[in-house]
Amino acid sequence: MRRGPFREGDRVQLTDQRGRLSTVTLTSGDAFHTHRGYLPYAELVGLPEGSVVRNTAGVEYLALRPLLSDYVLSMPRGAAVVYPKDAAQIVGMADIFPGARVIEAGVGSGALTMSLLRAVGDAGSLHSIERREDFAAIARGNVETFFGGAHPAWTLSIGDLADVLPVVTAPASVDRVVLDMLAPWENLDAAATALAPGGVFIAYVATTTQLSRLAEDVRADGRYTEPQAWESMVRGWHLEGLAVRPEHRMIGHTGFLLTTRRLADGVDAPVRRRRPSKGAYPTDGTGAPLGEWTAEELGERAVSDKKVRRVRRDVGQGPSAD
Ligand SMILES: C[S@@+](CC[C@H](N)C(=O)[O-])C[C@H]1O[C@@H](n2cnc3c(N)ncnc32)[C@H](O)[C@@H]1O
Repeated sequence: MRRGPFREGDRVQLTDQRGRLSTVTLTSGDAFHTHRGYLPYAELVGLPEGSVVRNTAGVEYLALRPLLSDYVLSMPRGAAVVYPKDAAQIVGMADIFPGARVIEAGVGSGALTMSLLRAVGDAGSLHSIERREDFAAIARGNVETFFGGAHPAWTLSIGDLADVLPVVTAPASVDRVVLDMLAPWENLDAAATALAPGGVFIAYVATTTQLSRLAEDVRADGRYTEPQAWESMVRGWHLEGLAVRPEHRMIGHTGFLLTTRRLADGVDAPVRRRRPSKGAYPTDGTGAPLGEWTAEELGERAVSDKKVRRVRRDVGQGPSAD
């Protein structure tokens, strides 16, 4: 991270009087042009962060270097990025610590990569694996722009996680595996081999169907603890005089997170004391899986015929006596 007065090559976030943000790079001889005047970048060079500058038409801008959370939302994207609120949850709940040995896939645009690098620090190691060469190139550009060059803890490999991971890591040598991809369950075996006992596996998925598949496959694998899943919703607040209330708009959905931990080899996952609710796993009574979903199979409580008859009577619609 750069500190001190603005220099050529810095990314700077300009906020106008209406709160609109523009992120610019201080390129020599260039300027920030708008329909109301322009601001030569040379006027920013040498000023401290938090300065207010005026363009040629007198429009004022507050100038700051973007925070990581600002940067990921304004940087060029190939794939969708993990939002700052989810990156914060991943770092916190997967316990990504300074010095940790972490595997990440896929890399996409590199947004989550930057939070992971911040958390492991220079003494840690983050090996990021991305199967698309073009996305990997975008991620490298974003990460190196943000850190002002190559990060000492970062290695980026191109390929499929299941192929690359066994080649780049010895068994049981990794503290954390972080997956953001369409089908994370396809990599549970490779992740279990790489993770040290007690290591954390965390995956970010966008839909409930992915979450369900992942949870069941984690249980079926046998080398992981009982999975935990959650989502986070962040509601901003409007602060103006007495009008202190939640913002009217918010991001309603980004994704779900699931964590589990690697058991020691040869240990059976403890038997769950709580039995799954009746019908949570659809079968035809002989144990064979059923194709169709019913209300009970989705965990809804079955309503007895007796109750339905009573409710019908209560609303004056009782069945006829015959
Ligand atoms: C949603 S993007 C990741 C975004 C990234 N976390 C970020 O914050 O910018 C998912 C990425 O996973 C990659 N991917 C999917 N399956 C993969 C696999 N098996 N191995 C490696 N990369 C994979 C895709 O090419 C894609 O770039």
